[in-house]
Amino acid sequence: MATFDINGKVALVTGGASGIGYAIAVALLAKGVKGVTLADVATEVGERAVKEIEAKFGEGKAIFVKTDVTNASEFEEAFQKTVEKFQNVDILINNAAIALEKHWERLIDVNLCGVFRGTLLGLETYLPKYKSGEEAVIINVSSIAGVAPFVACPAYTASKFGVHGLTLAWGHPAHFKDTKVKVIGVCPGITLTQLGAESTENLFTDRYKNIYLSTPELDPNHPKQTPEEMSPHVVRLIEKATSGTVWIVEEGQPPYQYEMIKREQIEDKNYID
Ligand SMILES: NC(=O)c1ccc[n+]([C@@H]2O[C@H](COP(=O)([O-])OP(=O)(O)OC[C@H]3O[C@@H](n4cnc5c(N)ncnc54)[C@H](O)[C@@H]3O)[C@@H](O)[C@H]2O)c1
Repeated sequence: MATFDINGKVALVTGGASGIGYAIAVALLAKGVKGVTLADVATEVGERAVKEIEAKFGEGKAIFVKTDVTNASEFEEAFQKTVEKFQNVDILINNAAIALEKHWERLIDVNLCGVFRGTLLGLETYLPKYKSGEEAVIINVSSIAGVAPFVACPAYTASKFGVHGLTLAWGHPAHFKDTKVKVIGVCPGITLTQLGAESTENLFTDRYKNIYLSTPELDPNHPKQTPEEMSPHVVRLIEKATSGTVWIVEEGQPPYQYEMIKREQIEDKNYID
């Protein structure tokens, strides 16, 4: 697969009003994209984000579309408004997520079904139809909790393992051959954003809180990265990574590939008696 040229492309970023999504949008603009759509539930934050982008990159480089990724028609409208404004859409960043375990059905709807909706809309309709070059790219933001569990957070863990799984399936060459859309997974390590702010108040019970506090990655002293440190690495993956690959980006370091062991590779099968 050739390098994907970001220059002049158009990106739609869910959860793009703040945190990692916003940082990815800015990193893409710094690499020369024509425009970005910030699709987010947070209207005030999103509109402010557009102003910040315009101040830095010029008028007309970003639009905000109020989008709840649990709502299929709002999600579709985000694609439509992107095409209306920028004529094309080449890159979809499925990034929006929440970490409120108590609201686990909503969490699964946002974190997993939201990525599913976005990938369906992007892969099956909008990207093949409106890409400006030969290929398009979908980045699915999973987590280090999508390759090993955060045991105090079963809902978040399940949603992120789910995103990992759908990326492996939709990223397979069997799909790419027909769609020319690369589907790539990104698993950030702990990143300084608002995501964790209400997490501990929204665990199932206090028992989960004790487990949460003893999870090494969630220890306050565990190394962290800023969204600004990690976002250029995501841009690099858009340019270079092969469809169906999954990458961990932690501690501000360059991405490294995560691969699940294949069943056939288990030499000594541990059969139960
Ligand atoms: N921060 C971390 O430590 C970390 C670690 C691993 C993975 N991640 C993943 O990175 C991604 C971004 O997280 P973040 O840390 O920037 O979080 P954040 O809370 O700072 O930002 C998330 C954004 O998503 C938006 N959002 C929430 N629900 C939405 C919905 N239903 N529809 C549309 N937008 C919605 C919010 O308004 C917000 O702007 C998420 O997928 C998260 O799971 C974060």
